[in-house]
Amino acid sequence: MKSEIELVISERISKNGIISFSEYMDILLFHDYYGYYSSRDIFGKKGDFITSPITSSLFGASIANEFINIRDSISEPVILEIGAGDGSLAISIIEHLSSKKALPSKFYIIEASEKLIELQKVNIMKKTPQLSRIVEWVNCDEVSSINGLIICNEFFDVLPTERFKVHNERFFQLFVDYEDDIKIRWEDKTNKLRDIFKNLEFYDVLSNYDDYESEINLNYETWVQNINKILNIGAVFIVDYGYNMKEYFLPDRKTGTLVCIHNHHANFNPFINIGLQDISSFVNFSHLSALFKKLKFEVSGYLEQSKFLINLGILDLFEERAFSDDDKLIEINKLKNLVLPNAMGDIFKALIVTKNYSNALLASRNYNRKDIL
Ligand SMILES: C[S@@+](CC[C@H](N)C(=O)[O-])C[C@H]1O[C@@H](n2cnc3c(N)ncnc32)[C@H](O)[C@@H]1O
Repeated sequence: MKSEIELVISERISKNGIISFSEYMDILLFHDYYGYYSSRDIFGKKGDFITSPITSSLFGASIANEFINIRDSISEPVILEIGAGDGSLAISIIEHLSSKKALPSKFYIIEASEKLIELQKVNIMKKTPQLSRIVEWVNCDEVSSINGLIICNEFFDVLPTERFKVHNERFFQLFVDYEDDIKIRWEDKTNKLRDIFKNLEFYDVLSNYDDYESEINLNYETWVQNINKILNIGAVFIVDYGYNMKEYFLPDRKTGTLVCIHNHHANFNPFINIGLQDISSFVNFSHLSALFKKLKFEVSGYLEQSKFLINLGILDLFEERAFSDDDKLIEINKLKNLVLPNAMGDIFKALIVTKNYSNALLASRNYNRKDIL
């Protein structure tokens, strides 16, 4: 018997014809009732996610240090988080800024999932009831020309992506069909994809390959444009697992970067566990930085999460908290998870871009690798 989400997919295809892989991924993750993000408890004890802000409040406190650094040089500074998960990052930033008497007048959240908005409200009320007044949930159209800091932690990896294949010097794009069951179709889209790759300077690398599959995320552009509309003066932190273009399209990475998580186990097949598993792709930071540059943003930094957090003062914050001996061991382990290379320290990167803002940022002051983007 077909599951509810398979019915949604088959009905969409019988009405409109085959759908692109990104449309398929969008339904699986974000369908209002049956999508993975709407139907499952993905955060918390039973969930699939343990992100950096959930791992330790030091992650958010470190990011809050940048807000303290920039707030005096811009008028009416605020913070906006895009894709706020269970609200952990917002809570740790607000708590830290309150303790430093540096709260912004507003902490905006843009969140797609109604279920997660409810969870964020409950968690924020529980942890910081007296400060929850500054938090406001908005959609992209309701906020524009703000000054301050925009944060996207593990947001760009969930944006539905396209899959492509290089074969016999042609570029094929993955589509999804339905005939009694889900069927995959590769359509020759050489002209369209060649133009996109040439524009982004990926073509010279990709045109050398054969029988090579990977991802190109066409949703990045919409979100870079959204951020451009929303931000007037300030900085944007994009933190996620990902690579620059050369690493993304390594000759040996022949099956791309798509990864699915089901009951804490990774697999690479988005056509199983339909609607029951997370699907994401590594972020192509060269692609993102090219889009920001096109809109006249300044790329201020690109560096590993470990270096980003050290620049933001995470080690001093750890000392400042003066944990008891019992807590210290637990907290050191959390800190290790954020910064050690074999944990989240190296695979996660931070891209830091600014708009109409040229003062020095803490986040990119040392170890900057923006030249490799
Ligand atoms: C992997 S979670 C990361 C959550 C959080 N930033 C963290 O680090 O714990 C991705 C978040 O992005 C949200 N999201 C995905 N697509 C979105 C969209 N188009 N607009 C707003 N939020 C979105 C999800 O609902 C979820 O809150």
